[in-house]
Amino acid sequence: MKMDERILCLCMNVGAEAIRHAVEQGAETFEEVCQRTGCARSCSMCADEIKGEIGRTLAARDGRRGGEKN
Ligand code: FES
Repeated sequence: MKMDERILCLCMNVGAEAIRHAVEQGAETFEEVCQRTGCARSCSMCADEIKGEIGRTLAARDGRRGGEKN
């Protein structure tokens, strides 16, 4: 199974896959990802984990885009 089913935000039941999907759909900041997924709306214990996932996804995305940048 390739899908990453890890739940990163237990309070709001938001998984790693949802975080990556939000980033791939254009969310680039923690706040934007929270707005799109509903994550980190309660205890916020998940914030560091989610920020890490956003960073890794952005890095992977930018790596994939290769020479598209100016
Ligand atoms: S684990 Fe994400 S708000 Fe509590």
